[in-house]
Amino acid sequence: MNIIFKNESFRDDYSFKNSIESIRRFPFPFAEDNYMYSVNIEPHVKGNKNSVYEYNFDIDEHYISECNDKRMTLAEDPKRYESLPHMLEAQWDFLELTMNSLSQDYPEYFSLKKNEDEWTWENKLLEIKDTFIFGDSASISMEPFEYMGRQVQGDFVLLDQRNNTLYADAGFVTSQADWSLAFDLGMSWQEWHGPVPQVTELGIMDRALKYLLSLQQSNPVRRLNWTMTIHPRLDTSPENYPFWGADRNKINYSNVGELVYLRVELQTLFRLPKSNCILFAIRCYLINLNEINSFPRWSKRLHRVLKNLHPDLIEYKGLTKFNSTVVSWLSQFDDGEIINKGT
Ligand code: HEM
Repeated sequence: MNIIFKNESFRDDYSFKNSIESIRRFPFPFAEDNYMYSVNIEPHVKGNKNSVYEYNFDIDEHYISECNDKRMTLAEDPKRYESLPHMLEAQWDFLELTMNSLSQDYPEYFSLKKNEDEWTWENKLLEIKDTFIFGDSASISMEPFEYMGRQVQGDFVLLDQRNNTLYADAGFVTSQADWSLAFDLGMSWQEWHGPVPQVTELGIMDRALKYLLSLQQSNPVRRLNWTMTIHPRLDTSPENYPFWGADRNKINYSNVGELVYLRVELQTLFRLPKSNCILFAIRCYLINLNEINSFPRWSKRLHRVLKNLHPDLIEYKGLTKFNSTVVSWLSQFDDGEIINKGT
């Protein structure tokens, strides 16, 4: 894809917009008219050309502006990046995986030259060029996880595997759907998933954990998760709730198409070779209801999913204040017919 990078904002005047190409490749997450949590994990294999699944880490037209937004969020709140001392090896794993992937997949934007342990990394989009010694933290300007976390779209958690579970022992989290790294740091799988409704009854978390504990190197996996956000805001963190929470009260029938965004997370998990930790990457895609309506099958389907959504999920995902307005607005596009792929 020939990417034309945008200069846009995810806060204040919210100038973010998707091009037609971005709408076309949006990872619309609903394959059925109903939605409930499930162990929706599949191999993270190379997908179609230009799709969000084409490469390990997807770079799109929002790359430069999203990296700027990360920088602003971190400047205001340095605790969005944290790493416990025993995670240094996993940090270098992360740097290696992301540098190798980006330079192989997007050679026009990123390059990596290796002279034994002396590596030179160039990121043409952010105008960065650095030489450092792989594995020597003193040779690089910041911790390796933070260094590359700033240069790849999305959020990242490094999970340490011990005691038959996973621990969130390091994270770079600036675009999360209302959860806090500072709060969850050091927690186990069972602890950080504690607030999620319905999943214990469905047995989902135990099965997903079992699957991940045996995750193999070179066989990454992925899943989609979703919620809804008002405005194209990346940083919907609990820490900054005062800046975005009240926006949920301003949705009405005339502004719903413009202001309500479907927020889809492409979550990928990679076993890291040296540390045996797991990288959990969360890549956020935003699309508003008007844009969703470019594909009539999407607005129909979203209408049905939201209309039938379990009340616990409406509440947990923070949709209570505006879901009925969204459903009523979307209903005008739903003729009740069965949805065919081509419509
Ligand atoms: C929330 C499932 C992996 C961190 C959730 C939710 C589900 C879920 C269903 C509720 C989301 C919503 O309704 O918006 C899974 C499954 C996984 C997985 C099936 C297996 C691949 C992970 C990993 C992390 C993680 C590896 C690493 C940190 C979280 C957090 C929340 C969450 C922080 C929000 C919890 C809160 O409300 O505080 N997960 N998850 N998940 N998940 Fe996962």
